[in-house]
Amino acid sequence: EGPKEVESQQDLFQVEELYVPLEKREETLREAEKLVKVTLSELDLQWLHVLADGWAAPLQGFMKEDEFLQSLHFSTLKLKDGTVVNQSIPIVLPITNEDKERIGNEQNVALCLPELPSRPVAILRNIEIYHHHKEERCARTFGITDPRHPYTSIIYESGDWLIGGKLEVLERIKYNDGLDKYRYSPRQLREEFRRREADAVFVFQLRNPIHNGHALLMNSCREKLLKKGFKKPLLLVHQIGGKVKDDDVPLDVRITQNEAILEEGILDPDNTIIGIFPSPMIYAGPKEVQWHAKARMNAGCKFYIVGRDPAGMKHPGTNRDMYDPWHGKKVLMMAPGLEKLEILPFQVAAYNVKSRRMEFFDSSRPEDFLFISGTKMRKYASDGEEPPHGFMGKKAWEVLAAYYRNKRNE
Ligand code: ADX
Repeated sequence: EGPKEVESQQDLFQVEELYVPLEKREETLREAEKLVKVTLSELDLQWLHVLADGWAAPLQGFMKEDEFLQSLHFSTLKLKDGTVVNQSIPIVLPITNEDKERIGNEQNVALCLPELPSRPVAILRNIEIYHHHKEERCARTFGITDPRHPYTSIIYESGDWLIGGKLEVLERIKYNDGLDKYRYSPRQLREEFRRREADAVFVFQLRNPIHNGHALLMNSCREKLLKKGFKKPLLLVHQIGGKVKDDDVPLDVRITQNEAILEEGILDPDNTIIGIFPSPMIYAGPKEVQWHAKARMNAGCKFYIVGRDPAGMKHPGTNRDMYDPWHGKKVLMMAPGLEKLEILPFQVAAYNVKSRRMEFFDSSRPEDFLFISGTKMRKYASDGEEPPHGFMGKKAWEVLAAYYRNKRNE
């Protein structure tokens, strides 16, 4: 007998895209050209992309105040029919005092890019403008207000007002960086999962190159699913595509590195998809991991891998972990509105100096293990040193080493 979850792979919450249908595009563009224009930052465009693709569905646009408050205080949104969906981080559009004055009493505005002010990318309809309480937003989202945090700094520098409304996006968002083919929308992913006849899709969110510890999590997960009786588990390796902090590895290098991992057979190339999730990283730990999971649930993933300190970082003031490294996993397993997603929790993986492999850490013999943090990994690469044998695939390491070599020589 097959596992009972087979059906449920398809019946997860269906998502709606916010793109204007082709036949209405010209008319909507003409309308947009006549509206008051609001210029988007690079980051705003990434959030617009997230919304337009339906990663944040059923959210229909940048949050209005009621949605903002629900998200900030409850980490959820309540729909008209009473359904509670997870939305642990606010998706909002800041504007300046000057923008607010220009908008005046308008109902709708056009959203534009700085380099193309005459060609709007979207209309925001039935707008509402409300005060941007920045420090409070930071405190409730990150648990800290330190302006040296990579995302609080962005919030503090942004406008004093937030503008919410319903989005109508004129065209699919393209970056023309050679990576657009990896940017599957939730709808495209669902189609791909169906085409491949996957009976269990499991996803790995990351913002880092893949080392053999990450691979251990993903391969253990596949084994677990096969043991449960699934016949065709499919892995989605899903790289964060939006803005990351300055010392994280750039997206193109991560993707090339991930492709090398598949070529080396460290992950099963026939049953793995590499994709890009267009969201920025905000480094909000347990709050953010819920967002990461919810968005992938919208894309039709049924299983979500989580390990140590998801979406975490060092506190910018003390250099200690900002969050308890196990809270992300614990919170995710209890989070409201994520019940249809099955969370696959993992222990910490570390380098075993005796077996010279990445293994799950065994606290009864800590002396056998070496923890190689992201910072340490980057240091090996930028010093031109090899990491310990068995830490990362050879070809994959060469991709990273080459990037840091070039950076050093710049
Ligand atoms: S994240 O910001 O995208 O969460 P990262 O790319 O470091 O960061 O991690 C991706 C996933 O791997 C997360 O689920 C994280 O918990 C997990 N992870 C990373 N390193 C380890 C490790 N050494 N042991 C166990 N899990 C890990």
